[in-house]
Amino acid sequence: MKISGCIFDMDGVIVDSAKHHFTAWKMLADELSIPFTLDDNKLLKGLSRIDSLEKILSLGSLELNSNTKLLLMEKKNSLYLYLVSKMSEYEILPGVKDLILELRREGVGVCLGSSSKNATVILKNVNLFNLFDGVVDGNNITLSKPDPEVFLKGAEILGISPSECVVFEDAASGIEAALSGGFFALGIGDASELSRANSVVSDLCGMTLEKLNQITG
Ligand code: BG6
Ligand code: MG
Repeated sequence: MKISGCIFDMDGVIVDSAKHHFTAWKMLADELSIPFTLDDNKLLKGLSRIDSLEKILSLGSLELNSNTKLLLMEKKNSLYLYLVSKMSEYEILPGVKDLILELRREGVGVCLGSSSKNATVILKNVNLFNLFDGVVDGNNITLSKPDPEVFLKGAEILGISPSECVVFEDAASGIEAALSGGFFALGIGDASELSRANSVVSDLCGMTLEKLNQITG
């Protein structure tokens, strides 16, 4: 496969933001007297903000009207934004920045494909924003992963076909999105959770374009 572009998911691929999502959701769950653990937090990987809230409410068998849900999401997001405002380049996951710099040097397009509505602010906080040729996030899409919309828009920005593009994803829903869009789906993390991916690596430490070419064949 000729690699003309790479689309990166953000949460769990570029930065470990799950801990900040957990702190913020936990504050809300405690207020609502819903038991919410780190294991429960893993179920939220890749889910949109509203789907994450619905999941937490279901853990407490709580049904709320949509206005209340909107207020709760705003409250959660304010705390989350405060927590991520303290992020710096030290929180970029190992290997990510070197890989992106190499891809750029080699003329491979680099785009973000995230469900998060906070992607731009986080990329700016960790000083990576300027290295992306395009950013598609939760503000630009109508359908969440596993729908491929987020990645298809990314390929469009890069001006390439999905068949020449690698998607880097840590969530099963993102792997499905990449596959159904016709991309090469590279899972980042636990192979048992990402069994549908075309290939899986535990992290991007030491990843190079040469290794990517070997993986994609
Ligand atoms: C995904 C995360 O990338 O973004 C989810 O994996 C999160 O955990 C989702 O819920 C939405 O993020 P945000 O920043 O818009 O609340
Ligand atoms: Mg992710």
